[in-house]
Amino acid sequence: MSAFRITRTLPEDATAAALRADVLHGLTSDPKALPPKWFYDARGSDLFEQITELPEYYPTRAEREILADRAGEIAAALPARTLIELGSGSSEKTRYLIDALPGLHTYVPVDVSDSALVQAGQALIVERPGLDVHALIADFTAGLTLPETPGPRLLAFLGGTIGNLLPGERAAFLAGARALLSPGDALLLGTDLVKDEDVLVRAYDDAAGVTAAFNKNVLSVVNRELGADFDPGAFDHVALWDADREWIEMRLRSRTAQTVKVPALDLAVDFAAGEEMRTEVSAKFRREGVNGELAAAGLEPARWWTDGKERFALSLSVAR
Ligand code: AVJ
Repeated sequence: MSAFRITRTLPEDATAAALRADVLHGLTSDPKALPPKWFYDARGSDLFEQITELPEYYPTRAEREILADRAGEIAAALPARTLIELGSGSSEKTRYLIDALPGLHTYVPVDVSDSALVQAGQALIVERPGLDVHALIADFTAGLTLPETPGPRLLAFLGGTIGNLLPGERAAFLAGARALLSPGDALLLGTDLVKDEDVLVRAYDDAAGVTAAFNKNVLSVVNRELGADFDPGAFDHVALWDADREWIEMRLRSRTAQTVKVPALDLAVDFAAGEEMRTEVSAKFRREGVNGELAAAGLEPARWWTDGKERFALSLSVAR
């Protein structure tokens, strides 16, 4: 018999406190910045799903191609009995892996969004009788406690989301991932690759303006949660390639000199005309760089798969 369980390791008010701290810190820093994790309320998650279907946004299709072509090889390299997925969202691409792992005992999707977890988890236990699904509502950047499940364990972090972490956060994340694993367990990591600047910038500044709406949505989140009076129409969406750091940066540029009030923080924030606030970095990787960062975290690079156009990579590394 299948079982579906859901565990909240995230106190309801921890999210609110974290948002307040991030907004206070970010709006009083110079330059101003907001962390990308606050994009994903219900509307932001919906806009992100729309982004994944845009002609310009290739990463989702490229990663799906790799999973569709290589799931069998991945499963053969690490015949997991437990699959843990960080930032699982709809678990749509993960189906390829689950279907390729006949010995899979437990699937542990981890996400901050409980609606996505419940939907994906319930569909899965219907489709895959015998599979246990133990969903975790958790912020995986804040340290995780996993259920006791049989090994070997495969920890999947797909979508290129590691690129949204700054280099120091990335090192801490990989060390934390390693700490969840025992020797012989493995990490399956999705990374978007360095490529032509035009292709990259278009992926983050699409013609239909969906990414612009997604970017400005963070202002609506701060308005709703903290009573702020951001006018999303008073900001322009900016996407640029930082060639030195090899990352895409999204920013919001104030169209005019304006003051924004954030009552919950007792804060009034001045924006100069043309001032830019960073809302996301999305780092792009090279094989040597990924391998170096994995090794530094105690993960031994074992396999590397790309899509046919070498736009995106999945790597498998083994805990030593
Ligand atoms: C899938 C979360 C990694 O950085 O490409 C999409 C988020 N931001 N368009 C990415 C995103 C702008 C996305 N991640």
